[in-house]
Amino acid sequence: MTKQLILDNVTVQFGGLKAVDGVSTAIAMGERRAIIGPNGAGKTTLFNAITGVVMATAGKVVFEGEDVTRSPVHARAAKGMSRTFQITNLFPNLSVRDNMRLAIRGLSKAKFSLLGRPELAAADDAEAERALGLSRLVGRSDTLVKELSYGEQRQLEMAMALVARPRILLLDEPAAGLSPAERVIVADIIRSLPRDLTMIIIEHDMDLALGLVDWVTVLNNGHLLVEAAPADIRGNKDVQDVYLGKARRHA
Ligand SMILES: Nc1ncnc2c1ncn2[C@@H]1O[C@H](COP(=O)(O)OP(=O)(O)O)[C@@H](O)[C@H]1O
Ligand SMILES: [Mg+2]
Repeated sequence: MTKQLILDNVTVQFGGLKAVDGVSTAIAMGERRAIIGPNGAGKTTLFNAITGVVMATAGKVVFEGEDVTRSPVHARAAKGMSRTFQITNLFPNLSVRDNMRLAIRGLSKAKFSLLGRPELAAADDAEAERALGLSRLVGRSDTLVKELSYGEQRQLEMAMALVARPRILLLDEPAAGLSPAERVIVADIIRSLPRDLTMIIIEHDMDLALGLVDWVTVLNNGHLLVEAAPADIRGNKDVQDVYLGKARRHA
């Protein structure tokens, strides 16, 4: 299988802290990968190093054959990397449609204009409807974001990440803070996204994560602890020690 994303000894150091410490892995075209691990394991920082929000202080990030370790966020986005953030990142007083337009314009030079030429707006709105459909928000374009449920807001963030027609989608805790019923919806959305779209999902909830992916990477203290198939994660002694052990202590 062709490797789409290769991480070679990726390290991110903040002062004296190595938040990500020598992580190497490779993700195949079309693969669905979970990254799990206790709080503070370095999961979000690894996403940041992949997408360019922070730069790796050592190691290499290779995307589709190109070394992007030092490329800025927009250059990696232009190559097809798209992500959602752990913390919601929406404009609450704008409608769903306007948030979608901003997401689309964010990809182009007309980024700060909600006005512009009407025929462009029509094309944008068609693309927005496509992405809203994938995220099960059809018919919600006129709703103000602050009137959406929290679950719908997370769905909107996925829709905003999908307008770029990404080649790889990185989801940072897409179900964080959701009710069990809302989690089911998010899981269904993720399952029904195009199968050729590569996905990396950070998820704290193991039940959710293991049901969505082909392969699992476990981080602990910035290190890659284990990589295994979902079926082999729960029974893994190292995973039980760091992940379940900590989860129990913190519960
Ligand atoms: N910008 C930053 N500056 C300093 N320390 C950071 C920064 N971002 C994350 N950290 C630290 O790096 C470690 C890993 O954080 P993070 O990647 O957010 O973990 P996770 O997403 O697995 O919970 C934590 O100890 C966190 O406090
Ligand atoms: Mg995180």
